[in-house]
Amino acid sequence: MPVKFYATDEKIPLEMHKVRMIQKLNLLPVEERLKKIQEAGNNTFLLQNKDIYLDMLTDSGVNAMSDLQTASMLQADDSYAGSETFNRVKAAVKEVFGTENVLPAHQGRACENILAEAYVKPGMVALMNFHFTTTKAHITRLGGEVIELVQKKGLIPQSDDPFKGDFDLKELKATIKKYGPEKVAFVRVEAGTNLIGGQPVSLENMLAVSDICHDYGIKSILDASLLQDNVYFMKTREPQCKYMTTKEIYHLLASRFDIIYFSARKLGFSRGGIITSVDPKYTNEMMEFIPLYEGFLTYGGMEVRSMEAMAQGLLESLDMEYINQGPEFIEYLVNDLDKYGVPVIKPAGGLGAHLDCQAFVPEMPHNQYPAAAVGAAIYIAGGIRGMERGTVSEQREEDGTERFAELELQRLAVPRRVYTLSQIKYCADRVKWVWDNRNLIGGLEWTLEPKVLRFFFGRMKEIGYWQEELVEKFKQDFGDSL
Ligand code: F0G
Repeated sequence: MPVKFYATDEKIPLEMHKVRMIQKLNLLPVEERLKKIQEAGNNTFLLQNKDIYLDMLTDSGVNAMSDLQTASMLQADDSYAGSETFNRVKAAVKEVFGTENVLPAHQGRACENILAEAYVKPGMVALMNFHFTTTKAHITRLGGEVIELVQKKGLIPQSDDPFKGDFDLKELKATIKKYGPEKVAFVRVEAGTNLIGGQPVSLENMLAVSDICHDYGIKSILDASLLQDNVYFMKTREPQCKYMTTKEIYHLLASRFDIIYFSARKLGFSRGGIITSVDPKYTNEMMEFIPLYEGFLTYGGMEVRSMEAMAQGLLESLDMEYINQGPEFIEYLVNDLDKYGVPVIKPAGGLGAHLDCQAFVPEMPHNQYPAAAVGAAIYIAGGIRGMERGTVSEQREEDGTERFAELELQRLAVPRRVYTLSQIKYCADRVKWVWDNRNLIGGLEWTLEPKVLRFFFGRMKEIGYWQEELVEKFKQDFGDSL
């Protein structure tokens, strides 16, 4: 499938689309970038988009729409109840997953809220390959506990294992036996696995997990938010999937998991969220929460134009010539960074490139937040906004002690169909400069620390004057260049 170039051996991803609408970007001078990151409390969530050149915060809700998606928005039917738009969303979900029962919600975490409300009771456990921030917050809010069962290989930053998101099946069985199936609210498979570097889960492992759930009579839930990348990796890395169509893979998974939910900000290149199941029993159990928290059953808090874009975007998630773009651009970025010696999670996963900040600044203790510090340095170096996915993104324990992240990652997300290859090369170049000047990077300390989801609005201060020194070095190395 990759198109070969004649005059070079380099593996260059070739887009099967062209750009037909653009947005102007700004690249501020380096002194301005220093000011902006300090004003933002060293939290990239608090930067303003006008001050950012490459927004690599997330792949959520920032993917480029296709011409057909934009066109479909014109036919949106905004009736409160019984909207034709919802029927088109249902038809698209059926085409992609083969499921008939569909509940709408305003985004992925709203689906998680509903799943937790319906199935998590105090003292219960939810088993998963790895947690996601909002998933865990909803489960613990209701008195449940999250237990992570990813195979040990998933936490090794650099390896050539193709499926680092796989469950440890032995541990899964042992944990079910330890707590007893009645205490297990559900088993949740996150495919791909966000917080460990967008790493995929193999089809074989997912089917084995669903079998185990079936044997013990436990609900199985698939978080399909990152499934389009995961399906790409199954097709390209797992021999048994090579000759399956993407649709066969989606359908097989849907037939084996009790409940599927996803953020349409990722899957579907749009906005919104969906819960779906083959058996109406599950959607019936959750239905009452939709009008309570989201909106009527035919819009669930979503804007109808986004729903139309989602319907078309879901169909595009079946097309390898669309879903290859994200993973192939990420692989290109990861390869460039790796060539430059920058410690980056390998193999390349979905969602974005993930820098291993424990290796980046090995002397820095977790409680000076190495991943956030590297993120601030990257913004200063290039106007590039990444996201901390390390200790700052964790929650303190009940007794206030810091919970150190297993991996201190700085994520550089690659929104789908958005950036050009020269922009990706610029990103690799500026990160290399930060890597070469890593001895200048210092730590951060809290000035405002919210109790829940602190990474969204917390503020931090740089310890000492390392950021000013970084700017001085930038000016020495780059002269007049922005
Ligand atoms: N599940 C996964 C695997 C996700 O990556 C996300 C969101 C959600 C659920 C929640 O969906 O944002 O629509 O409420 N991830 C985004 C990110 C926020 O930037 O990684 P949501």
